[in-house]
Amino acid sequence: MNNKSENIFDVQGNVVILTGGSGKLGSVYTNYLVDNGAIICNFDIKKPSEELLNLSGENYSFFKTDLTKKEDISKSLNQVINQFGIPDALINNAALDSPPGSEENQNGAFEEYPELSWDKVMEVNLKSVFLCCQIIGAEMAKNGAGSIINISSHYGVISPDQRIYEYRKKVFNKPISYSASKSGILNITRYLSTYWGERNVRVNTLTLGGVLDSQDKEFIENYSSKVPLKRMANESEYNGAIQFLISSASSYITGSNMIIDGGWTAW
Ligand SMILES: NC(=O)c1ccc[n+]([C@@H]2O[C@H](COP(=O)([O-])OP(=O)(O)OC[C@H]3O[C@@H](n4cnc5c(N)ncnc54)[C@H](O)[C@@H]3O)[C@@H](O)[C@H]2O)c1
Repeated sequence: MNNKSENIFDVQGNVVILTGGSGKLGSVYTNYLVDNGAIICNFDIKKPSEELLNLSGENYSFFKTDLTKKEDISKSLNQVINQFGIPDALINNAALDSPPGSEENQNGAFEEYPELSWDKVMEVNLKSVFLCCQIIGAEMAKNGAGSIINISSHYGVISPDQRIYEYRKKVFNKPISYSASKSGILNITRYLSTYWGERNVRVNTLTLGGVLDSQDKEFIENYSSKVPLKRMANESEYNGAIQFLISSASSYITGSNMIIDGGWTAW
């Protein structure tokens, strides 16, 4: 029985490795979790903003890491362990839509989608999750506790609709590599939940819909028309789920896919 005064959503003092923490949503999670007393270790290839670097000293650290390189992840993890101990949680959040400079491929014909773009997106979006789970998850398993949150997209559950070319250009679209990599995440989660269950490492997917960050009215209207809640997400609307999956409130949840997409995938 829970003590009535116990806060089962408490993340105070939890050591959280967050990949891609310098990006848009990573920065939002960081601010929220640090405010709630968690210790955030940002593994990103890109330096975070000054605002993040100035976050209340001891609860935030940046570890420059190329997540496609095993030795980089191991080195950063060793620094985390020396500084804070074995992490309580890992959020696999880093991802690419398209390799930098090749965004025009996104809306082009499938037949012309470049092999190099496929390889790069798969490497960042899927292989990095495999490597982080292998290296960081293994330490959690040895320690007998941990929560891994793998971030997917509604486009990993259903496909971005490719039936009409004009539609593809106007509505939020993603290349096939993005969609396939985000689908792959669902089964990394399921596989590892069965593999690490008896060592008390929980592994779950958090599937997200699109966040409003565009000024393009036509795009926003097109996107919103597909969503039962009739709007895109606000950037802070995923914080609660992140906290829930780190905390003991989710202690009996593993192998699941929590979908937060305004209902896009419900029909
Ligand atoms: N923003 C959305 O609307 C949305 C919707 C659905 C799902 N998602 C998912 O949420 C996550 C975060 O999205 P975001 O919009 O904040 O993305 P973002 O592009 O703002 O951030 C991604 C971060 O990953 C980092 N990164 C890329 N390659 C790396 C590498 N090799 N090594 C280390 N770091 C690397 C980047 O430097 C960047 O800081 C992604 O997994 C994305 O697929 C986002």
